[in-house]
Amino acid sequence: MRREIGIVAAFAVIAADGVFADVETPKVVAASVDLTNRIGTVGKELYGGFIEHLGRNVYGGVYDPDDPQADEDGFRRDVIREMKELKTPIFRYPGGCFTDFWRWEDGIGPREKRPVRIDPYWKQLDDNSFGLDEFMKWIGKVGAEPMITFNLSNRGLLEAERMWEYLRFPKGTTLSEMRRKYGRDKPYDIRYWCLGNEIYGSWEMGNRDAASYGRDAREVAKFLKHVDKDAIVVLCGCEWDQRWNETVLSMAWKYTDLLSIHMGTWQQKKGYDRSGDILDRNLEATAETIRRLNSKKPEKERRNVKISIDEYFLWNGVCGAPGTEYTKGRHILEPDYTILDSVVMGDLHITMHNHADMVAYAGIAQSVNAIAPIRTEKNGRLWHQTIYDPLRLVATCGIGEVLRLKWSGNEVGDVRASAILRKDGSLAVFVVNRSLTAAHDFVLSLPGAWKIAESKEQSGPQNVANALDREVIRARDVTDAAFADGKLSMPLKACSWRMIVLEKKCDGHWRTREG
Ligand code: AHR
Repeated sequence: MRREIGIVAAFAVIAADGVFADVETPKVVAASVDLTNRIGTVGKELYGGFIEHLGRNVYGGVYDPDDPQADEDGFRRDVIREMKELKTPIFRYPGGCFTDFWRWEDGIGPREKRPVRIDPYWKQLDDNSFGLDEFMKWIGKVGAEPMITFNLSNRGLLEAERMWEYLRFPKGTTLSEMRRKYGRDKPYDIRYWCLGNEIYGSWEMGNRDAASYGRDAREVAKFLKHVDKDAIVVLCGCEWDQRWNETVLSMAWKYTDLLSIHMGTWQQKKGYDRSGDILDRNLEATAETIRRLNSKKPEKERRNVKISIDEYFLWNGVCGAPGTEYTKGRHILEPDYTILDSVVMGDLHITMHNHADMVAYAGIAQSVNAIAPIRTEKNGRLWHQTIYDPLRLVATCGIGEVLRLKWSGNEVGDVRASAILRKDGSLAVFVVNRSLTAAHDFVLSLPGAWKIAESKEQSGPQNVANALDREVIRARDVTDAAFADGKLSMPLKACSWRMIVLEKKCDGHWRTREG
Protein backbone atom coordinates (compact mmCIF):
# COMPACT_ATOMS: atom_id res chain seq x y z
CA MET A 1 0.00 0.00 0.00
CA ARG A 2 2.67 2.46 -0.94
CA ARG A 3 1.51 6.03 -1.36
CA GLU A 4 4.09 7.49 -3.67
CA ILE A 5 4.43 10.67 -5.65
CA GLY A 6 4.78 10.02 -9.35
CA ILE A 7 5.10 12.01 -12.51
CA VAL A 8 2.61 14.80 -13.14
CA ALA A 9 -0.12 13.73 -15.55
CA ALA A 10 -0.73 15.46 -18.83
CA PHE A 11 -3.63 17.95 -18.76
CA ALA A 12 -6.77 16.60 -20.29
CA VAL A 13 -9.20 18.60 -22.35
CA ILE A 14 -12.88 17.90 -22.02
CA ALA A 15 -14.96 18.20 -25.16
CA ALA A 16 -18.54 19.44 -25.25
CA ASP A 17 -19.96 15.95 -24.66
CA GLY A 18 -17.93 15.55 -21.51
CA VAL A 19 -15.55 13.07 -23.05
CA PHE A 20 -11.80 13.61 -23.07
CA ALA A 21 -10.67 14.44 -26.57
CA ASP A 22 -7.48 14.12 -28.57
CA VAL A 23 -6.16 17.64 -29.04
CA GLU A 24 -2.58 17.21 -30.09
CA THR A 25 -1.20 16.26 -33.48
CA PRO A 26 -0.22 12.58 -33.61
CA LYS A 27 3.51 12.06 -33.23
CA VAL A 28 5.42 9.10 -34.57
CA VAL A 29 6.95 7.08 -31.77
CA ALA A 30 9.40 4.51 -33.08
CA ALA A 31 11.15 1.49 -31.64
CA SER A 32 13.05 -1.45 -33.02
CA VAL A 33 13.81 -4.98 -31.95
CA ASP A 34 16.47 -7.46 -32.75
CA LEU A 35 15.11 -10.98 -32.38
CA THR A 36 18.25 -12.17 -30.62
CA ASN A 37 18.38 -9.46 -27.95
CA ARG A 38 16.24 -10.98 -25.21
CA ILE A 39 15.51 -9.79 -21.68
CA GLY A 40 14.17 -13.03 -20.22
CA THR A 41 11.27 -15.45 -20.25
CA VAL A 42 7.71 -14.68 -19.24
CA GLY A 43 5.79 -17.73 -18.03
CA LYS A 44 2.12 -18.11 -17.19
CA GLU A 45 3.11 -17.32 -13.58
CA LEU A 46 3.02 -13.61 -14.46
CA TYR A 47 -0.76 -13.71 -14.59
CA GLY A 48 -1.72 -14.92 -11.12
CA GLY A 49 -4.73 -13.96 -9.02
CA PHE A 50 -5.72 -13.36 -5.42
CA ILE A 51 -8.65 -14.55 -3.30
CA GLU A 52 -8.58 -12.58 -0.04
CA HIS A 53 -11.38 -12.75 2.49
CA LEU A 54 -12.14 -9.17 1.55
CA GLY A 55 -15.56 -7.76 0.69
CA ARG A 56 -17.32 -9.97 -1.84
CA ASN A 57 -14.21 -11.68 -3.16
CA VAL A 58 -14.97 -14.91 -1.30
CA TYR A 59 -18.48 -14.50 0.16
CA GLY A 60 -20.85 -13.52 -2.65
CA GLY A 61 -18.12 -14.04 -5.25
CA VAL A 62 -16.26 -17.33 -5.28
CA TYR A 63 -18.60 -18.85 -2.69
CA ASP A 64 -22.32 -18.16 -2.68
CA PRO A 65 -24.34 -21.29 -1.85
CA ASP A 66 -27.66 -19.46 -2.21
CA ASP A 67 -27.03 -18.23 -5.72
CA PRO A 68 -28.57 -20.05 -8.72
CA GLN A 69 -25.02 -20.29 -10.15
CA ALA A 70 -23.81 -22.27 -7.11
CA ASP A 71 -22.56 -25.79 -7.74
CA GLU A 72 -22.79 -28.70 -5.29
CA ASP A 73 -20.04 -27.11 -3.16
CA GLY A 74 -21.56 -23.64 -3.14
CA PHE A 75 -19.02 -22.25 -5.64
CA ARG A 76 -20.35 -19.99 -8.36
CA ARG A 77 -20.01 -21.75 -11.71
CA ASP A 78 -19.82 -18.49 -13.64
CA VAL A 79 -16.87 -17.32 -11.51
CA ILE A 80 -15.03 -20.60 -12.10
CA ARG A 81 -15.67 -20.23 -15.83
CA GLU A 82 -14.30 -16.67 -15.85
CA MET A 83 -11.18 -17.63 -13.88
CA LYS A 84 -10.51 -20.33 -16.45
CA GLU A 85 -11.13 -17.83 -19.23
CA LEU A 86 -8.56 -15.50 -17.63
CA LYS A 87 -6.18 -18.48 -17.48
CA THR A 88 -5.21 -17.58 -13.92
CA PRO A 89 -2.57 -20.19 -13.07
CA ILE A 90 -2.07 -19.45 -9.35
CA PHE A 91 -4.20 -17.87 -6.63
CA ARG A 92 -2.89 -16.36 -3.43
CA TYR A 93 -4.98 -16.98 -0.29
CA PRO A 94 -6.32 -15.88 2.26
CA GLY A 95 -4.80 -12.35 2.29
CA GLY A 96 -3.60 -9.65 2.31
CA CYS A 97 -4.17 -7.71 5.46
CA PHE A 98 -6.87 -10.23 6.38
CA THR A 99 -4.11 -12.71 7.23
CA ASP A 100 -3.09 -10.69 10.32
CA PHE A 101 -5.98 -12.07 12.36
CA TRP A 102 -6.50 -15.28 10.45
CA ARG A 103 -6.42 -18.57 12.31
CA TRP A 104 -6.37 -21.32 9.71
CA GLU A 105 -7.87 -23.88 12.12
CA ASP A 106 -11.08 -21.82 12.43
CA GLY A 107 -11.97 -22.74 8.86
CA ILE A 108 -11.74 -26.54 8.88
CA GLY A 109 -14.16 -29.29 9.87
CA PRO A 110 -17.96 -29.24 10.11
CA ARG A 111 -19.25 -25.79 9.22
CA GLU A 112 -21.70 -25.61 12.12
CA LYS A 113 -18.80 -25.91 14.55
CA ARG A 114 -16.64 -23.24 12.97
CA PRO A 115 -16.35 -20.02 14.97
CA VAL A 116 -17.59 -16.64 13.78
CA ARG A 117 -14.84 -14.04 14.04
CA ILE A 118 -14.41 -10.40 13.31
CA ASP A 119 -11.90 -9.21 10.79
CA PRO A 120 -10.89 -5.86 12.28
CA TYR A 121 -8.93 -4.84 9.22
CA TRP A 122 -11.82 -4.77 6.73
CA LYS A 123 -14.49 -4.59 9.45
CA GLN A 124 -16.12 -7.83 8.44
CA LEU A 125 -17.73 -10.80 10.08
CA ASP A 126 -16.43 -14.16 8.98
CA ASP A 127 -18.24 -17.37 9.84
CA ASN A 128 -15.35 -19.35 8.34
CA SER A 129 -17.73 -21.26 6.09
CA PHE A 130 -15.00 -20.94 3.45
CA GLY A 131 -11.62 -22.14 4.69
CA LEU A 132 -8.52 -23.93 3.52
CA ASP A 133 -10.25 -27.12 2.34
CA GLU A 134 -12.85 -25.14 0.40
CA PHE A 135 -10.14 -23.00 -1.17
CA MET A 136 -8.18 -26.07 -2.22
CA LYS A 137 -11.28 -27.67 -3.69
CA TRP A 138 -12.09 -24.48 -5.60
CA ILE A 139 -8.51 -24.27 -6.89
CA GLY A 140 -8.91 -27.83 -8.21
CA LYS A 141 -12.07 -26.86 -10.08
CA VAL A 142 -10.40 -23.82 -11.63
CA GLY A 143 -7.33 -25.89 -12.52
CA ALA A 144 -4.92 -23.53 -10.78
CA GLU A 145 -2.21 -23.74 -8.15
CA PRO A 146 -2.35 -22.30 -4.61
CA MET A 147 -0.10 -19.74 -2.97
CA ILE A 148 -0.70 -19.75 0.77
CA THR A 149 0.11 -16.85 3.10
CA PHE A 150 1.18 -17.56 6.68
CA ASN A 151 0.12 -15.16 9.39
CA LEU A 152 3.52 -13.92 10.52
CA SER A 153 2.17 -10.66 11.89
CA ASN A 154 0.56 -12.19 14.94
CA ARG A 155 1.51 -15.88 14.83
CA GLY A 156 4.75 -17.74 14.35
CA LEU A 157 6.66 -20.90 13.54
CA LEU A 158 4.54 -23.31 15.55
CA GLU A 159 1.26 -22.32 13.87
CA ALA A 160 2.99 -22.38 10.49
CA GLU A 161 4.23 -25.91 11.17
CA ARG A 162 0.74 -27.03 12.26
CA MET A 163 -0.89 -25.60 9.17
CA TRP A 164 1.72 -27.17 6.91
CA GLU A 165 1.21 -30.51 8.68
CA TYR A 166 -2.55 -30.34 8.13
CA LEU A 167 -2.11 -29.54 4.46
CA ARG A 168 0.97 -31.49 3.45
CA PHE A 169 1.68 -34.39 5.81
CA PRO A 170 0.54 -37.73 4.30
CA LYS A 171 -1.08 -39.46 7.30
CA GLY A 172 -0.72 -40.83 10.80
CA THR A 173 -0.59 -37.58 12.80
CA THR A 174 -3.50 -35.89 14.50
CA LEU A 175 -3.62 -33.06 11.99
CA SER A 176 -3.07 -35.13 8.84
CA GLU A 177 -5.72 -37.59 10.01
CA MET A 178 -8.04 -34.67 10.65
CA ARG A 179 -7.62 -33.56 7.04
CA ARG A 180 -8.36 -37.10 5.88
CA LYS A 181 -11.44 -37.24 8.06
CA TYR A 182 -12.63 -33.95 6.58
CA GLY A 183 -12.49 -35.40 3.11
CA ARG A 184 -9.02 -35.00 1.65
CA ASP A 185 -7.06 -38.23 1.73
CA LYS A 186 -3.85 -37.21 0.03
CA PRO A 187 -1.72 -34.23 1.02
CA TYR A 188 -2.43 -31.12 -1.03
CA ASP A 189 0.00 -30.03 -3.71
CA ILE A 190 1.21 -26.65 -2.50
CA ARG A 191 4.50 -25.14 -3.57
CA TYR A 192 4.21 -21.39 -2.94
CA TRP A 193 4.31 -20.12 0.66
CA CYS A 194 4.23 -16.40 1.46
CA LEU A 195 5.85 -15.51 4.77
CA GLY A 196 3.41 -12.83 5.92
CA ASN A 197 1.93 -9.83 4.18
CA GLU A 198 3.21 -6.22 4.05
CA ILE A 199 4.64 -6.58 7.55
CA TYR A 200 6.77 -3.45 6.98
CA GLY A 201 3.61 -1.30 6.63
CA SER A 202 2.40 1.02 9.37
CA TRP A 203 -1.20 0.13 8.46
CA GLU A 204 -0.57 -3.56 9.06
CA MET A 205 -1.87 -4.75 12.45
CA GLY A 206 1.13 -6.75 13.44
CA ASN A 207 3.59 -4.39 11.79
CA ARG A 208 7.17 -5.25 12.78
CA ASP A 209 10.65 -4.01 12.18
CA ALA A 210 12.83 -5.75 9.62
CA ALA A 211 15.10 -7.56 12.09
CA SER A 212 12.25 -8.99 14.14
CA TYR A 213 10.38 -10.10 11.00
CA GLY A 214 13.60 -11.43 9.47
CA ARG A 215 14.27 -13.70 12.43
CA ASP A 216 10.83 -15.33 12.35
CA ALA A 217 10.73 -15.51 8.58
CA ARG A 218 14.12 -17.21 8.52
CA GLU A 219 12.93 -19.88 10.94
CA VAL A 220 9.70 -20.57 9.04
CA ALA A 221 11.65 -20.65 5.77
CA LYS A 222 14.21 -23.00 7.31
CA PHE A 223 11.42 -25.30 8.47
CA LEU A 224 9.78 -25.30 5.02
CA LYS A 225 12.99 -26.12 3.20
CA HIS A 226 13.75 -28.82 5.74
CA VAL A 227 10.46 -30.66 5.39
CA ASP A 228 9.35 -29.94 1.86
CA LYS A 229 11.57 -30.26 -1.17
CA ASP A 230 8.98 -28.55 -3.34
CA ALA A 231 8.52 -25.46 -1.16
CA ILE A 232 8.96 -22.11 -2.87
CA VAL A 233 9.59 -19.54 -0.16
CA VAL A 234 8.27 -16.01 -0.76
CA LEU A 235 9.82 -13.53 1.66
CA CYS A 236 7.98 -10.32 2.46
CA GLY A 237 9.88 -7.51 0.78
CA CYS A 238 9.04 -3.84 0.47
CA GLU A 239 8.73 -1.98 -2.81
CA TRP A 240 10.15 1.30 -1.56
CA ASP A 241 12.47 0.43 1.31
CA GLN A 242 15.68 -1.25 0.21
CA ARG A 243 17.01 -1.22 3.77
CA TRP A 244 14.11 -3.48 4.76
CA ASN A 245 14.84 -5.75 1.79
CA GLU A 246 18.53 -5.87 2.56
CA THR A 247 17.92 -6.77 6.22
CA VAL A 248 15.32 -9.48 5.68
CA LEU A 249 17.12 -10.97 2.71
CA SER A 250 20.42 -11.08 4.56
CA MET A 251 18.75 -12.92 7.42
CA ALA A 252 16.76 -15.44 5.39
CA TRP A 253 18.92 -15.55 2.25
CA LYS A 254 19.75 -19.22 2.50
CA TYR A 255 16.10 -20.23 2.22
CA THR A 256 14.57 -17.54 0.02
CA ASP A 257 13.36 -18.16 -3.52
CA LEU A 258 11.27 -15.05 -4.16
CA LEU A 259 11.19 -11.60 -2.61
CA SER A 260 7.73 -10.11 -2.70
CA ILE A 261 6.89 -6.53 -3.58
CA HIS A 262 3.47 -4.97 -4.08
CA MET A 263 2.36 -2.32 -6.54
CA GLY A 264 -0.69 -0.25 -5.68
CA THR A 265 -1.99 2.42 -8.05
CA TRP A 266 -4.34 5.26 -7.24
CA GLN A 267 -5.54 6.60 -10.57
CA GLN A 268 -7.24 9.61 -9.04
CA LYS A 269 -3.89 10.88 -7.83
CA LYS A 270 -1.63 12.90 -10.06
CA GLY A 271 1.01 10.75 -11.62
CA TYR A 272 -0.61 7.40 -11.11
CA ASP A 273 -1.61 7.23 -14.76
CA ARG A 274 2.15 6.66 -15.11
CA SER A 275 2.25 3.77 -12.67
CA GLY A 276 4.47 1.78 -15.02
CA ASP A 277 7.28 4.27 -14.30
CA ILE A 278 6.86 3.76 -10.55
CA LEU A 279 6.90 -0.01 -10.91
CA ASP A 280 9.90 0.30 -13.19
CA ARG A 281 11.88 2.18 -10.53
CA ASN A 282 10.79 -0.17 -7.74
CA LEU A 283 11.78 -3.23 -9.75
CA GLU A 284 15.15 -1.74 -10.70
CA ALA A 285 15.94 -0.88 -7.09
CA THR A 286 14.79 -4.23 -5.70
CA ALA A 287 16.64 -6.18 -8.39
CA GLU A 288 19.75 -4.16 -7.64
CA THR A 289 19.52 -5.04 -3.92
CA ILE A 290 19.18 -8.74 -4.73
CA ARG A 291 22.08 -8.67 -7.19
CA ARG A 292 24.31 -6.76 -4.79
CA LEU A 293 23.70 -9.21 -1.94
CA ASN A 294 24.22 -12.16 -4.24
CA SER A 295 27.48 -10.80 -5.62
CA LYS A 296 28.88 -10.48 -2.08
CA LYS A 297 28.21 -14.14 -1.29
CA PRO A 298 30.81 -16.84 -1.78
CA GLU A 299 30.11 -18.93 -4.87
CA LYS A 300 28.39 -21.79 -3.01
CA GLU A 301 25.94 -19.47 -1.23
CA ARG A 302 24.77 -17.68 -4.36
CA ARG A 303 21.09 -18.02 -5.11
CA ASN A 304 18.84 -17.17 -7.99
CA VAL A 305 16.42 -15.04 -5.93
CA LYS A 306 13.70 -13.47 -8.07
CA ILE A 307 10.88 -11.00 -7.49
CA SER A 308 7.26 -11.90 -6.81
CA ILE A 309 4.86 -9.00 -7.41
CA ASP A 310 2.24 -10.91 -5.50
CA GLU A 311 -0.14 -7.97 -5.48
CA TYR A 312 -0.63 -5.31 -8.11
CA PHE A 313 -3.84 -3.43 -7.63
CA LEU A 314 -5.84 -0.64 -9.17
CA TRP A 315 -7.35 1.27 -6.34
CA ASN A 316 -9.09 4.31 -7.71
CA GLY A 317 -10.35 5.62 -4.43
CA VAL A 318 -13.66 3.81 -4.05
CA CYS A 319 -13.63 1.89 -0.80
CA GLY A 320 -17.32 1.50 0.04
CA ALA A 321 -19.38 2.32 3.06
CA PRO A 322 -17.39 3.16 6.17
CA GLY A 323 -17.38 0.12 8.36
CA THR A 324 -19.23 0.95 11.51
CA GLU A 325 -21.22 -2.25 11.21
CA TYR A 326 -19.42 -5.56 10.84
CA THR A 327 -21.03 -7.72 8.15
CA LYS A 328 -20.14 -10.72 6.03
CA GLY A 329 -19.47 -10.15 2.34
CA ARG A 330 -19.46 -6.34 2.53
CA HIS A 331 -19.61 -4.24 -0.61
CA ILE A 332 -16.18 -2.71 -0.21
CA LEU A 333 -13.43 -1.84 -2.65
CA GLU A 334 -15.69 -2.16 -5.68
CA PRO A 335 -14.61 0.66 -7.97
CA ASP A 336 -16.07 0.91 -11.48
CA TYR A 337 -13.01 0.89 -13.68
CA THR A 338 -12.64 3.14 -16.71
CA ILE A 339 -10.42 2.98 -19.76
CA LEU A 340 -7.66 4.68 -17.75
CA ASP A 341 -7.56 1.76 -15.31
CA SER A 342 -7.13 -0.72 -18.14
CA VAL A 343 -4.33 1.38 -19.66
CA VAL A 344 -2.62 1.57 -16.26
CA MET A 345 -2.92 -2.20 -15.94
CA GLY A 346 -1.55 -2.70 -19.45
CA ASP A 347 1.34 -0.40 -18.54
CA LEU A 348 2.10 -2.54 -15.47
CA HIS A 349 2.10 -5.74 -17.56
CA ILE A 350 4.44 -4.16 -20.09
CA THR A 351 6.76 -3.09 -17.27
CA MET A 352 6.77 -6.62 -15.85
CA HIS A 353 7.54 -8.05 -19.29
CA ASN A 354 10.45 -5.70 -19.66
CA HIS A 355 11.84 -6.97 -16.34
CA ALA A 356 11.37 -10.63 -17.22
CA ASP A 357 14.90 -11.35 -16.09
CA MET A 358 13.89 -10.68 -12.47
CA VAL A 359 10.11 -11.03 -12.13
CA ALA A 360 9.09 -14.66 -11.65
CA TYR A 361 5.54 -14.20 -10.39
CA ALA A 362 2.86 -11.52 -10.45
CA GLY A 363 -0.74 -11.60 -9.31
CA ILE A 364 -3.56 -9.13 -9.73
CA ALA A 365 -5.12 -8.10 -6.43
CA GLN A 366 -7.78 -9.15 -6.57
CA SER A 367 -9.83 -11.65 -8.59
CA VAL A 368 -13.56 -11.27 -7.87
CA ASN A 369 -15.60 -8.14 -7.00
CA ALA A 370 -13.07 -6.39 -4.75
CA ILE A 371 -10.77 -4.36 -7.03
CA ALA A 372 -11.23 -7.14 -9.56
CA PRO A 373 -11.79 -7.75 -13.28
CA ILE A 374 -15.23 -9.32 -12.79
CA ARG A 375 -18.24 -8.30 -10.73
CA THR A 376 -20.96 -10.71 -9.60
CA GLU A 377 -24.56 -9.76 -8.88
CA LYS A 378 -27.20 -11.73 -7.10
CA ASN A 379 -29.20 -14.26 -9.10
CA GLY A 380 -26.39 -15.54 -11.22
CA ARG A 381 -25.48 -12.36 -13.00
CA LEU A 382 -21.93 -11.27 -13.73
CA TRP A 383 -20.20 -8.57 -15.74
CA HIS A 384 -16.73 -7.62 -16.93
CA GLN A 385 -14.81 -4.56 -15.86
CA THR A 386 -12.68 -2.60 -18.35
CA ILE A 387 -9.56 -4.35 -17.11
CA TYR A 388 -10.91 -7.81 -17.96
CA ASP A 389 -10.01 -8.10 -21.66
CA PRO A 390 -6.45 -6.74 -21.45
CA LEU A 391 -5.80 -9.21 -18.61
CA ARG A 392 -7.35 -12.12 -20.51
CA LEU A 393 -5.47 -11.34 -23.71
CA VAL A 394 -2.08 -10.80 -22.08
CA ALA A 395 -2.45 -14.08 -20.15
CA THR A 396 -3.38 -15.85 -23.38
CA CYS A 397 -0.76 -14.37 -25.71
CA GLY A 398 1.92 -12.82 -23.48
CA ILE A 399 4.04 -15.88 -22.77
CA GLY A 400 7.51 -16.41 -24.22
CA GLU A 401 10.83 -14.63 -24.65
CA VAL A 402 10.77 -10.86 -24.14
CA LEU A 403 12.70 -8.85 -26.72
CA ARG A 404 14.53 -5.65 -25.77
CA LEU A 405 13.08 -2.58 -27.48
CA LYS A 406 15.22 0.38 -28.59
CA TRP A 407 13.26 3.63 -28.62
CA SER A 408 13.35 6.89 -30.51
CA GLY A 409 10.93 9.82 -30.54
CA ASN A 410 9.32 8.86 -27.24
CA GLU A 411 10.87 11.53 -25.04
CA VAL A 412 7.63 12.31 -23.22
CA GLY A 413 7.20 8.61 -22.47
CA ASP A 414 3.55 8.45 -23.51
CA VAL A 415 3.98 5.17 -25.35
CA ARG A 416 5.12 1.96 -23.68
CA ALA A 417 5.44 -1.42 -25.33
CA SER A 418 6.73 -4.95 -24.96
CA ALA A 419 7.39 -7.60 -27.58
CA ILE A 420 7.22 -11.30 -26.77
CA LEU A 421 8.45 -14.05 -29.05
CA ARG A 422 6.20 -17.01 -28.46
CA LYS A 423 7.04 -20.68 -28.54
CA ASP A 424 5.28 -21.15 -31.86
CA GLY A 425 7.41 -18.42 -33.47
CA SER A 426 4.70 -15.76 -33.45
CA LEU A 427 5.35 -12.36 -31.91
CA ALA A 428 2.94 -10.64 -29.49
CA VAL A 429 3.31 -6.88 -29.19
CA PHE A 430 1.59 -5.02 -26.34
CA VAL A 431 1.33 -1.22 -26.48
CA VAL A 432 -0.26 1.49 -24.36
CA ASN A 433 -0.63 5.17 -25.07
CA ARG A 434 -0.71 6.77 -21.63
CA SER A 435 -1.40 10.28 -22.87
CA LEU A 436 -4.90 11.39 -21.95
CA THR A 437 -4.97 13.89 -24.78
CA ALA A 438 -2.57 13.00 -27.57
CA ALA A 439 -2.94 10.32 -30.21
CA HIS A 440 0.30 8.86 -31.56
CA ASP A 441 1.50 6.57 -34.31
CA PHE A 442 3.65 3.67 -33.19
CA VAL A 443 6.16 2.08 -35.53
CA LEU A 444 8.13 -1.02 -34.59
CA SER A 445 10.96 -2.13 -36.87
CA LEU A 446 11.55 -5.84 -36.80
CA PRO A 447 13.66 -8.07 -39.02
CA GLY A 448 12.06 -10.66 -41.27
CA ALA A 449 8.73 -11.02 -43.02
CA TRP A 450 5.64 -10.97 -40.84
CA LYS A 451 1.90 -10.76 -41.22
CA ILE A 452 -0.66 -9.60 -38.72
CA ALA A 453 -2.67 -12.49 -37.31
CA GLU A 454 -4.56 -10.66 -34.58
CA SER A 455 -5.04 -6.99 -33.84
CA LYS A 456 -6.96 -5.81 -30.77
CA GLU A 457 -7.57 -2.39 -29.39
CA GLN A 458 -9.26 -1.08 -26.27
CA SER A 459 -10.13 2.59 -26.09
CA GLY A 460 -13.20 4.64 -25.30
CA PRO A 461 -14.57 7.65 -23.51
CA GLN A 462 -12.51 8.34 -20.45
CA ASN A 463 -15.27 8.93 -17.94
CA VAL A 464 -17.29 5.80 -18.64
CA ALA A 465 -17.24 2.45 -16.84
CA ASN A 466 -18.85 -0.85 -17.69
CA ALA A 467 -21.87 -2.11 -15.75
CA LEU A 468 -24.24 -5.04 -15.72
CA ASP A 469 -25.72 -5.36 -19.26
CA ARG A 470 -23.69 -2.34 -20.38
CA GLU A 471 -20.15 -3.47 -21.18
CA VAL A 472 -19.20 -0.54 -23.35
CA ILE A 473 -15.44 -0.82 -22.94
CA ARG A 474 -14.18 -4.14 -24.28
CA ALA A 475 -11.24 -5.03 -26.51
CA ARG A 476 -12.24 -5.21 -30.16
CA ASP A 477 -10.70 -6.41 -33.42
CA VAL A 478 -9.34 -3.59 -35.54
CA THR A 479 -7.72 -3.55 -38.98
CA ASP A 480 -5.72 -0.34 -38.81
CA ALA A 481 -2.31 -1.94 -38.11
CA ALA A 482 -0.01 -2.90 -40.99
CA PHE A 483 3.28 -4.66 -41.57
CA ALA A 484 5.33 -3.48 -44.57
CA ASP A 485 9.01 -3.00 -45.36
CA GLY A 486 10.17 -4.37 -42.03
CA LYS A 487 7.89 -2.10 -40.01
CA LEU A 488 4.80 -2.76 -37.95
CA SER A 489 2.77 0.42 -37.70
CA MET A 490 -0.41 1.32 -35.90
CA PRO A 491 -2.30 4.40 -34.78
CA LEU A 492 -2.73 4.83 -31.04
CA LYS A 493 -5.68 6.77 -29.73
CA ALA A 494 -5.16 8.81 -26.58
CA CYS A 495 -5.48 6.59 -23.51
CA SER A 496 -5.62 3.26 -25.30
CA TRP A 497 -4.36 -0.32 -25.06
CA ARG A 498 -3.35 -2.57 -27.96
CA MET A 499 -2.22 -6.10 -28.72
CA ILE A 500 -0.93 -7.26 -32.09
CA VAL A 501 0.11 -10.83 -32.84
CA LEU A 502 2.28 -11.38 -35.88
CA GLU A 503 3.14 -14.60 -37.65
CA LYS A 504 6.49 -15.06 -39.27
CA LYS A 505 7.17 -16.18 -42.81
CA CYS A 506 9.70 -19.05 -42.80
CA ASP A 507 10.86 -20.78 -46.00
CA GLY A 508 7.98 -19.24 -47.88
CA HIS A 509 5.32 -20.51 -45.41
CA TRP A 510 3.46 -18.71 -42.64
CA ARG A 511 4.05 -20.38 -39.32
CA THR A 512 0.76 -20.98 -37.65
CA ARG A 513 0.08 -19.88 -34.12
CA GLU A 514 -0.50 -22.13 -31.16
CA GLY A 515 -4.17 -22.85 -30.57
O1 AHR B 1 -5.48 -5.93 -2.06
C1 AHR B 1 -6.04 -5.20 -1.00
C2 AHR B 1 -5.08 -4.98 0.12
O2 AHR B 1 -4.05 -4.20 -0.36
C3 AHR B 1 -4.42 -6.21 0.68
O3 AHR B 1 -5.11 -6.77 1.74
C4 AHR B 1 -3.12 -5.69 1.16
O4 AHR B 1 -2.13 -6.69 1.18
C5 AHR B 1 -2.83 -4.57 0.19
O5 AHR B 1 -2.27 -3.49 0.81
